[in-house]
Amino acid sequence: MLALTGIGALVTNDVSLERGKLGIINNAALVVGDDDKVAFVGETSQLPRDYLGNSIDLAGRAVIPGFVDSHTHLVFGGDRAEEFEARMSGRPYSAGGIRTTMAATRNSTNDELVANARRLANEALHTGTTTLETKSGYGLSVVDEARSLQVATAVTPETTFLGAHVVPPESQTDDYVALVCGEMLQQCAHNAKWIDVFCDRGAFEVDHARAILSAGAKLGLGLRIHANQLQHGGGVQLGVELGAASCDHCSHLSHGDITALADSHGATVATLLPTAELCTRSRFPDARQLIDAGVTVALASDCNPGSSYTTSMPLVIALAVLNMNMTCDEAVWSATAGGAAALRRTDIGHLKVGAQADFSVLGAPSHIHLAYRPGVKIIDAVFNNGRLVAGSLR
Ligand code: NIG
Ligand code: FE
Repeated sequence: MLALTGIGALVTNDVSLERGKLGIINNAALVVGDDDKVAFVGETSQLPRDYLGNSIDLAGRAVIPGFVDSHTHLVFGGDRAEEFEARMSGRPYSAGGIRTTMAATRNSTNDELVANARRLANEALHTGTTTLETKSGYGLSVVDEARSLQVATAVTPETTFLGAHVVPPESQTDDYVALVCGEMLQQCAHNAKWIDVFCDRGAFEVDHARAILSAGAKLGLGLRIHANQLQHGGGVQLGVELGAASCDHCSHLSHGDITALADSHGATVATLLPTAELCTRSRFPDARQLIDAGVTVALASDCNPGSSYTTSMPLVIALAVLNMNMTCDEAVWSATAGGAAALRRTDIGHLKVGAQADFSVLGAPSHIHLAYRPGVKIIDAVFNNGRLVAGSLR
């Protein structure tokens, strides 16, 4: 049992409290029960006496739900610092860089891949990410995709098969699509919860994406899609049509795309990845348009060695507010409850009674400081399943 009191602002994401989208309770208390779930949230003055004995006073600091980073690529070898430097000297970003990481990944042992993925998951944990999704997609052969997914299971149960990231240099597109839908999927599905396709310029066409996602659905995998990152196209509407949990990137959207997402009534989330725009010097998508149309928006890091080599959800939130027209409340919601919706999880992303006790204590009086103080270390302590796993309360 753990009781925290004197929380300046507690973000619960419980709309039934009728305290805005974030369900904020001021001067709050939070109790974790012996089952490691949230047992009480409310005002400190209402905390049942039994809990008061060994409570910890947070002296006005804020508490938020753990971030749910629903889109990362942590299974890879090497890095692409030289490509980054060339890009900063004017070369444009293209999907082709994925093949550089493919070579480094194929040359890495499983132990090296696990160590790198764990290093990044741990880095994410220290900035408040308590759940993350991660993908294969840098192996691009049956053997290397299968071991990439095995590696992914070492860091998270939210694993995604992304054999269709790009066509590897040794293959022709049609042959490779057949391989992904056939033997590769067979060898990967048991370690994957989701299947994803990079449907964009330099990667896969809509018809190929449809075939691949449909093959995954037949084996019981949930669907996600990298769509409309580099140019306009049919990826988003395909994702909605097939009932994908999320269409990710959404950087180039038509009115038809926005309407399709809105008409899904939250079944298909639009996951925005502003650090990818930041690190490729691309135009940020306008989250305002999506939210005003009624689309459910998630925010994620897209951590990968090419387009977005960061695990920082506080940075993602700051960019969403400063460059994508989101309010502070919307950005924090999208990085927590929105990420949970993109993974179709109801046990995380909020702090209602019964939730998994995943939360962060901020070195600040409110969640607003996540965007107001960009680039500053603002996560004091992180709790996962009710246990302190990063930082400290001092
Ligand atoms: O989500 N867009 C496709 N995949 C990654 C980038 C991969 C890479 O450049 O290595 C992304 O941005
Ligand atoms: Fe990605």
